[in-house]
Amino acid sequence: MPPSPAPPRHTAIVGLQWGDEGKGKIVDLLTADHDVVVRYNGGANAGHTVVTGGEKYALHLIPSGILYPEKVCVIANGVVVDPETLIHEMNTLHQRGIEIGDNLRISSRAHVVMPYHKVHDAALETFLSKTVVENGKDLSIGTTRRGIGPAYADKVHRSTAIRIGDLLEPDLLHRKLRVICAIRTAELSALNLDTPPLDPDELTDDLIAHGQRLAPFITDTTYLLHDFMAEGRSILFEGANACLLDIDHGTYPYVTSSNCSSLGIPAGTGVPGVHIKRVLGIMKAYTTRVGAGPFPTEQENEIGHRIRKRGHEYGTTTGRPRRCGWLDLVAVRYSAMICGVTGLACMLLDVLSGLDEIQICTGYRTPDGSITDRFIPDAHGLSAMQPVYETLPGWQEEIDEATQRSKLPDNAQRYLDRIEILTGLPLNIVSVGPDRNQTLKAVPA
Ligand code: GDP
Ligand code: IMO
Ligand code: MG
Repeated sequence: MPPSPAPPRHTAIVGLQWGDEGKGKIVDLLTADHDVVVRYNGGANAGHTVVTGGEKYALHLIPSGILYPEKVCVIANGVVVDPETLIHEMNTLHQRGIEIGDNLRISSRAHVVMPYHKVHDAALETFLSKTVVENGKDLSIGTTRRGIGPAYADKVHRSTAIRIGDLLEPDLLHRKLRVICAIRTAELSALNLDTPPLDPDELTDDLIAHGQRLAPFITDTTYLLHDFMAEGRSILFEGANACLLDIDHGTYPYVTSSNCSSLGIPAGTGVPGVHIKRVLGIMKAYTTRVGAGPFPTEQENEIGHRIRKRGHEYGTTTGRPRRCGWLDLVAVRYSAMICGVTGLACMLLDVLSGLDEIQICTGYRTPDGSITDRFIPDAHGLSAMQPVYETLPGWQEEIDEATQRSKLPDNAQRYLDRIEILTGLPLNIVSVGPDRNQTLKAVPA
């Protein structure tokens, strides 16, 4: 009997920290080896950057594989879609010569981020930011104000939710919106927001127009993905946000509202996890976080400023300065465990050039003085932990033109070796700059 062909290798890309690890760059890179790229969670809170040939693209809803015209990009059911933002993103890409046609599919069952979700998100954050509870801290999350939480809340409420498929049903849409608008208007006024009552007629008209534009792309993406797999096509799953922001496994309540670890893939796409044998965990060579919440290795000092400056650490979605600190391997190991990571990509290593010493957090000192190597996925518990560091020598040379890991300065190689030893995982990729070609592949990734 002839040997049967090797099954296609489906891959998941997930962030192992608090987001912005460089997932967009790696998704773009690995798209070359896959046929289909799928977003399974989150919404326009994500900002994924791809840099190639001197051009920079910031993607929020469209998968980062869109620069390859022959690949199919799928926005699956687990995503919350803001139609206005999506259409804007499509138009912007079109103006830059990226054609969007048969290469984009959107799930009819993805939920819609409505304008009132964004208003609600912002109003709630403003309201909570005025509610100081202790030590000058308030109760706001520091969300991206993209309406993500309120949209997922409506998904769970069910009766007040709108799905992408509803945009193609004008009568149903109007009937739903008449009820929803009355409820939302009351809720917004409870948040001290002095807005005119929401108008269901106007909202319906806008949504029908969006539906007409998006109609050619809307489909049942679950059957589509299973059909692709049956044809032997390989799928790349693009995680948005990151494991430590996962609604169930992150630093609750300072998280986003979806399962952004790889555990979100089955529910967010209809593809069982058993098909995904390769999970590439993306981590920065240090740590960043945007918004509120505990961050044990944060450096609110010269080191933090230096990292922010060299790494251009400002949000891709909101432009907010990112909080910066040393690499927390307790956190990375935890995320790798939750996500079933099979290999790592270490990003932005070039940012650490020029430091005399570099620290890696290998454990936490607990309030009773003992040391633990376990992460605490809870904001209150984690904020009581003190990082325990291992200190490594730094390197002075710029490394953004390096082409091989073995040609990096000795101390940079030592740093990478230490990450592999402490995580027990191979570094499949090391990134030394934003461009596609500033990438060192240690082993075939
Ligand atoms: P994502 O949300 O995980 O896709 O990450 P973002 O795009 O929000 O943020 C990562 C930033 O780092 C982007 O500006 C990338 O262009 C940039 N970047 C990615 N890899 C590297 C790298 O190895 N070195 C440097 N200096 N920048 C990088
Ligand atoms: P990518 O995919 C960094 C953070 C927000 C906030 C919290 C909740 O680019 O890595 P939300 O608007 O989701 O309700 O905000 O989660 N957050 C991110 N931080 N990168 C992201 O996405 C993020 N998505 C959400 O800053 O603290
Ligand atoms: Mg980002």
